[in-house]
Amino acid sequence: MGSGRNVAVFGAYGHTGRFVVAELCERGYVPLLLGRDQDKLLALAHAQPGLEARQASVDDPAALDRALNGAVAVINCAGPFAATAAPLVEAALRAGIPYVDVAAEIEANADTFAHFAERARAAGTVVVPAMAFYGGLGDLLVTTAMGDWTAADEAHIAYGLSSWHPTAGTLAAGVVSGQRRGGRRVRFTGGRLEYHDDALPTLEWPFPAPLGPQSVIGEFTMADVVTVPSHLAIPEVRTYMTAKAAADLSAPGASAPTAVDERGRSAQTFVIDVLVRSGGTERRVVAAGQDIYAISAPLAVEAVDRILTGRTRTTGVASAGAIFDAPDFLRALSAHLSLTDPPTAPPTAPLTAPLTAPLGTRG
Ligand SMILES: NC(=O)c1ccc[n+]([C@@H]2O[C@H](COP(=O)([O-])OP(=O)(O)OC[C@H]3O[C@@H](n4cnc5c(N)ncnc54)[C@H](OP(=O)(O)O)[C@@H]3O)[C@@H](O)[C@H]2O)c1
Repeated sequence: MGSGRNVAVFGAYGHTGRFVVAELCERGYVPLLLGRDQDKLLALAHAQPGLEARQASVDDPAALDRALNGAVAVINCAGPFAATAAPLVEAALRAGIPYVDVAAEIEANADTFAHFAERARAAGTVVVPAMAFYGGLGDLLVTTAMGDWTAADEAHIAYGLSSWHPTAGTLAAGVVSGQRRGGRRVRFTGGRLEYHDDALPTLEWPFPAPLGPQSVIGEFTMADVVTVPSHLAIPEVRTYMTAKAAADLSAPGASAPTAVDERGRSAQTFVIDVLVRSGGTERRVVAAGQDIYAISAPLAVEAVDRILTGRTRTTGVASAGAIFDAPDFLRALSAHLSLTDPPTAPPTAPLTAPLTAPLGTRG
């Protein structure tokens, strides 16, 4: 083995893993299909002739080492990441290759920073957690909106999802995260994660046309509260979710996404409205696209491509916004993501609690 183009995908037969495998092929890489279930791996290899499948489970370091043999990088798509991230990062460090994952679990992402920052930096290796829709994309957008600012008072990331049909992996990750929090909620305020039992506020977020104002759940806290503050001095980082999508996610018997196009994407659309505020000045970036799982593949693969071609700013554990040139990265995703110029006039609806101040002038 060892074409120099072999990228291991752990959890290759999962919903997101399959998008990542397809994207790697499209970009000229040769995915190594990794996972714990031999039958599922063989079924995927059968559907993807020419690709090699290697079974390994996270409690077997020797099997992980064999599975990573000849790989130039590994993308971990197997969640809950509370169980998979640490063993795969350990294996990547032993192999001396970069590690990228799509984890959307706040505590698991925080653990990756806490447990591996020093060792990864000392080894000169790169570990990028949350390199996906939640965590990675929000961080790239906030970093882009910041421009020449290195600090701000607040960052707000409003997710305008048309619907949310969750995968089994998303639901399982939610259960694990909920258990780790003892059923409590989490938010990022005063420069740290804070656990609480407060009811989540519902407010109206003024998404730009054509979506327009939508009812959102405030403090619907996502992985961005780990990635953004990992490199930007912003004490208040808030994420919001359209109330309809939040209701879809928690509905009993929520159905999985179904493909509506040749790429396997669902009909789900998203708008991400990012606002950063410093003093009375605001900066804003808006992005739109289709299918939060599908978009995670070009995000993760673009990250690997940039790491392998030396287009990085640091080593060790780093978020997307810290390690990559954020505006340039977003431009590279133009086939998957449209960045719209924010409206020149301030959003029409007032941003009420939990925001701290009325909208000011644009920077
Ligand atoms: N940050 C983001 O925006 C983002 C985007 C996409 C996905 N994700 C996350 O990625 C994860 C996967 O999502 P998905 O949509 O692909 O779900 P999925 O279709 O249900 O796939 C889950 C995958 O994880 C594997 N897996 C679970 N626990 C494992 C373990 N202990 N050891 C080895 N493999 C394990 C599963 O293998 P088995 O079938 O053998 O159980 C399967 O391959 C979820 O945690 C999800 O939240 C995050």
